[in-house]
Formats: sequence, structure tokens, C-alpha cells
Amino acid sequence: APLTQDELKAQVGRAALAYVVEGEIVGVGTGSTVNKFIEALATMKDRIRGAVSSSVASTERLQALGIEVFDSNAVDELAVYIDGADEIDGHGFMIKGGGAALTREKIVAAQSRSFVCIADASKRVDVLGAFPLPVEVVPMAARRIMRQFERMGGIAQVREKEGLPLVTDNGQHIVDVSGLRIVDPLGFESEVNQWPGVVTVGVFAHQRATVCLLGTPDGVQTLRY
Ligand code: A5P
Repeated sequence: APLTQDELKAQVGRAALAYVVEGEIVGVGTGSTVNKFIEALATMKDRIRGAVSSSVASTERLQALGIEVFDSNAVDELAVYIDGADEIDGHGFMIKGGGAALTREKIVAAQSRSFVCIADASKRVDVLGAFPLPVEVVPMAARRIMRQFERMGGIAQVREKEGLPLVTDNGQHIVDVSGLRIVDPLGFESEVNQWPGVVTVGVFAHQRATVCLLGTPDGVQTLRY
């Protein structure tokens, strides 16, 4: 039988272990693919110092498996950050934030020398933007930021959870923007970063992936950028 999406995620989660540096602290992302990586990481927990985590959810999973979680400020530089993506293009540029953890993800990615993206093949795209772009915003700026995206041709809405605006780990809101075609991810990220009230835009171009482990029906494909 063909591998399910869940099995593809488990495959790349295990493959990522090859990039973990023994004796060091590893950067850990967020999401269903990373959850597979965290399970695999537990098998070598005695050979690493611990982790820096990008979300409350990942921290809880890591600690439950006996992996020590360090504060980002307690660590200088990390050799490797391992995380999923909502979309990844041919340059290693990504859309992230489907799990609302994009701000801490970008912070840990920036702290790391390499970014290993783990994803099933459905995430690979030619142009970013079919997946609605997550943007973390200060709540009082949400309306103005949404209008700015609408002037770019997007359709923006505040992400909700149980009928109320979702509140991130950082106490902010998420705006999701559909209908964009992001042909210049570096320029787009720089521009949106300038808008007052934008905390983090879910385009990861300046913090792009250096390697992608892509789960395909024929096995794990390694893409280097
Ligand atoms: C979390 O905020 C996101 O950036 C995730 O990395 C992304 O949504 C991928 O998640 P899955 O592995 O669950 O697809």
C-alpha cells in the first residue's frame, strides 16, 4: 500500500536525526512533522545536551520525553534548527506559521547556522502563496495591516479559535492572507517587516532552509540550497 501522509512525515522526522550534532543543543520547530522528529529524537536523548524550542507545544513534548529545554537567551549559536513548513520553493524559501508559532520559529532559525526543513512532498511548490500567508500582528494594527494586504490583491482575515481571535504564545493575533503570489520572497519579507504592528511575516526567505528532507512515495529526497 502507498505510504500515508503520516508515514511520510515519520520518515522525514527520522531522517532528520542524521543532522543532529551529538553533544550539542538542537533547535526544534513546531507542527505535526516536527512531532515525529521529537519522537525520534527521544531515541538519542542521552547523546545530546538538549533543545531550544519554538513553541509551548514543542517544549511540553520535549520535556515529557525527558529532553532538557533551554531558553533561547541561554544559548549562543545553534548548529542546526529542524522544522516543518507549510510551503517550500526551489530556493529553500518557505511559508510557515500554519501552527501559529512563526515568531519563535524565526527567532530560533536566526540563531542557527543551518535550517533543515522536514516536509512531505505536498509542501513543495514553485511559487509561494497558495497556502494562506500567516502574519503575526499586534492586535490594534490588525485592521490596517489587512487593508494593506488587500491593496496587494490578497484577502485577509484574523485567525480565530472557538469563535474568538486566536492568541499566540506571544499574546498577539494572526492574520491569514490568501490570494497572494509571492514571486520575490526576499523583497516581500523585507517590505512587510516595515509595516508598523507586524510582529513576524510567515515568509522565511532571510531565514530560508539550507536543506530540505522531502518525504516522497519513493523515499526521502534530500534537497540542498
Ligand atoms: C508552525 O507554526 C508552522 O510553521 C509549521 O512548521 C508548519 O505549519 C508545518 O506543520 P506540519 O508539519 O503540521 O505540516
